Order: sequence, then C-alpha cells, then structure tokens
Amino acid sequence: MPGAEAPRDVGERIRRLKKELNAVILAHNYQLPEVQEVADYVGDSLELTLRAAETDAKYLVFAGVDFMAEQAAVLNPDKVVLHPDPGARCPMAAMLPRSLLLEYKRRYPGVPVVLYVNTLAEAKAEADYICTSANAVEVVRRVPSDRVVFGPDANLARYVELKTGKEVIAVPPTGHCYVHLSISPEDVEKLREAYPDAEVLAHPECVPEVWAGADLVGSTSSMVRRAGASSAKRFIVATEVGLLHRLRVENPAKEFVPAYQNAVCVFMKRITLEKVYESLRDLKHPVRVPPEIASRVAEALRRTFELLGASR
Ligand code: 13P
Ligand code: SF4
Repeated sequence: MPGAEAPRDVGERIRRLKKELNAVILAHNYQLPEVQEVADYVGDSLELTLRAAETDAKYLVFAGVDFMAEQAAVLNPDKVVLHPDPGARCPMAAMLPRSLLLEYKRRYPGVPVVLYVNTLAEAKAEADYICTSANAVEVVRRVPSDRVVFGPDANLARYVELKTGKEVIAVPPTGHCYVHLSISPEDVEKLREAYPDAEVLAHPECVPEVWAGADLVGSTSSMVRRAGASSAKRFIVATEVGLLHRLRVENPAKEFVPAYQNAVCVFMKRITLEKVYESLRDLKHPVRVPPEIASRVAEALRRTFELLGASR
C-alpha cells in the first residue's frame, strides 16, 4: 500500500521519537501485541496510574481508553499527555454521567462515594475515593462507613460487597462492561469440564456466576502474577483476550485458554501502532481536563492513597 510503513519500521520510528522528545508510552494489558511491545510500561489501571504519577518524561503517550488518559493528565498537569485515538472510549465509563452521580449523592446524603477508575473525570470530581479492580476491596474496607455508593460497574460492586460485608449501592444499578458480560458462566463451566486441571482466572467485571468459582478474582496484572507463581500448567482466562499475549510471552511453558475468544474490547483495539507513531510525530491528541475538575480528581486520588497508606 503506497505510503504505508511496515510495522517494524514504525516501531523503530516510535523508539527514535521517544528518545528525541523525552516521551514514554504507557500501555494497558489489553492493548494490541505490537503496541505493548513499543511501550515503556504495560500494566493494569493501578500500575499505570502509579507509573503516570512517577514519570519525569515531557510527553506521555497513553495507549488505552479515555478515562485512563484523562487520569494520567490529572496526575501530570505540567506534562503533555497524548491519546493516540480520542475515539477509544470506554462505554462503561460513559454509563455514569456527573448528573446521575449527583442524584445518588442527594438520595444518599453523607454516604461516601467510591468510584471505579473506569469513570470520566467529570464524575470522578464528585467522588470521595477512586479505586481500581486491584484495590477496590481494600479501599471500601478502609472507608469509615458501613455503606458506600459505588459505580459504575455493578458486578465489581457485588464482588466488593461480598468481600467487605458492607452495603454497596451500585450506581447505575446495571452498570457493566460489555466485554466481560459476554463471558458466560456456561462457557466457563464447559471449559472447566474439558480442562479439569486448569485454574480459572476471572476479572471482577464478569458476572458473579463467573467469578464465584474462580481460583483468582482480580485485576489483569494480578492474573499475570498468579499465572507466573502457580504450579498449574493451564489456565482458563475470563477477561478481555488481549491479556493472553502477555500471559503467553511471560509463561511460554504454560497454556492459556480464553473463557470466550470473542471477548474483545473494540475500543482498546482502536489504538494501533500507526496511531501511536502519528501521536508522537504530530503531538496529537493532547488530553485536556479542565483545571477545576482535575484538581478535584487529584484530591480524591490523594485521599485514596492516604486511606491505603503504605499498602497502595
Ligand atoms: P484492570 O485495571 O484490571 O487492568 O482493568 C481495566 C479494565 O478496563 C477492565 O476492563
Ligand atoms: Fe471499558 Fe470493558 Fe473495554 Fe475495559 S474492557 S475499557 S471496562 S469496555
């Protein structure tokens, strides 16, 4: 195709530009393999948040979806955060507009609000605490209240409720990730029967019937750690299939079976190697969060880290 560059060349150009510009690329575990390969760091939402908070690079390219890039911008008001495709938007994050959260705050006055990181900044600015799948249980456990308002993922809300014994009020009551919802308990059951020796690794965004019997319920990176540490040789993986790349690269002697092979987040996959390159070459698309919103989100994050103390 005229004008198109071979992926290898694009990768090399990206590496060169990163050096020239003093830029880093952070990529989520669901990103395309070739994007993960040019990234300086690949991780789950919590790890990427911590990395974004630590970087001293001038430019930060975020290979992930909108709320992740926004959060990196909030943590780096003096740096330029670039999102290679602003159309990479998480539909679950869009399920909780600020107006709905304000309605719940009026309905449950004084009840602390804990928001999952998969939320847009305009709603996060109204939160008391912000959690990820890696620390949601711990955050809610430490919140000084027996009930919390929690959004936007209702399946994660149920998981947190089960683990903490607290009342977790889900906002919206049916908030969900369409990718994790596509993983059915019946499919997982069939795979369990076919591979009785396999461990089941499940993301808490799956329906309770999927995570209830899993050997590990947790964030994408906690699945990577478990696969590395476990003596099992085979794993059934109930999350977005992009994670299988990292699992296979890091554990070549083990077998990973997707719980559902069409569990694909088309929004994560909008970030291509070419778009990462163009983003560095043309410094597009800078992520801007209005300062009055950014400062309130940063305050909720600071409060959360303080709540978690050294265990963050
Ligand atoms: P993790 O933080 O577990 O990587 O999950 C992010 C996400 O978007 C899951 O769908
Ligand atoms: Fe959003 Fe689900 Fe995609 Fe994660 S996998 S970014 S929660 S749509």
